[in-house]
Order: sequence, then structure tokens, then C-alpha cells
Amino acid sequence: AARGYHEKVISHYERPRNVGSLPKGDIDVGTGLVGAPACGDVMKLQIRVDDNGIISDVKFKTFGCGSAIASSSYMTERVMGLSLDEAGKIKNTEIAKELCLPPVKLHCSMLAEDAIRSAIRDYRSKRASAQKTDFIHVSQTPAAETPSATQHQT
Ligand code: FES
Repeated sequence: AARGYHEKVISHYERPRNVGSLPKGDIDVGTGLVGAPACGDVMKLQIRVDDNGIISDVKFKTFGCGSAIASSSYMTERVMGLSLDEAGKIKNTEIAKELCLPPVKLHCSMLAEDAIRSAIRDYRSKRASAQKTDFIHVSQTPAAETPSATQHQT
């Protein structure tokens, strides 16, 4: 039926994989939320990372064109089971090639690249601030007996 638009795009468009959300507050979830200034389309992509640093779950929601939906759907399948470093290296040109996107639709695949990077950044900054909090707790504990320097002498 639909010739001219690549079958893989049609498949990801008609049956997008991994649509949905993960709980944003979970410490092992990273959320990427990005927009395309050119058209105003918005994409949310979330990853769950296991103890070995491997992406164990991915969900997306895209408020945008068919190519953006197909790109994010493709991206979710592509990053599942990868390490964060591997996932962060995926280029929009790879998606565009896989889905045979025309040049005017390149920015749609760029949205998927931005979204996974942003999700990885969010996950890493969450982890970093969680570790900082642990450190503060540990380093403050032994100081409990120190007398106050502002005590008045009478
Ligand atoms: Fe904007 Fe596709 S037209 S993301």
C-alpha cells in the first residue's frame, strides 16, 4: 500500500514500541525532555538503568510528527541493553538512515538523539547528587560532640 515512505517508518509509526512513562522520581530513572525549535514538537524519553549501568527499560512519549515518533520508537529499541556510554554515541544520522528519512525530516531524528543524551545526563546528575548526600551524612556524624563556639561565658 504505502509506497514511497519507507516500510520501517510506517511500522514504527503505526505500531510505536515502548510508548509510555517511567516514574520520574525513581533514582534509577533518567528523563530526557527535549523540543525541536523548528516545529515545536516535543519528545520525552526515559531510561531505567540497572546496577551494572545497563539500560534495562525505555519508554517514550512524543508529541510530534510521524518521523519523530518513528525515530523515538526506533531509539527505544536501539538503546535497550546498552551501557550509557554506548547509548550516548548513537547519532541521528544512523536513525535517519535506518528509517530512510528525507533531508527535511533530519531534525526529527535529531530530537531522538537529543532525548537520549538528555535522559543520560539526567540519570547521571541524579546519581551524582545522591552520592554527595551520602558523603555529607557520613562526614557530619562524628562531629556531634563538638562544643558550640558561640557559647557565652558567665
Ligand atoms: Fe518536527 Fe518532525 S516535523 S519533529
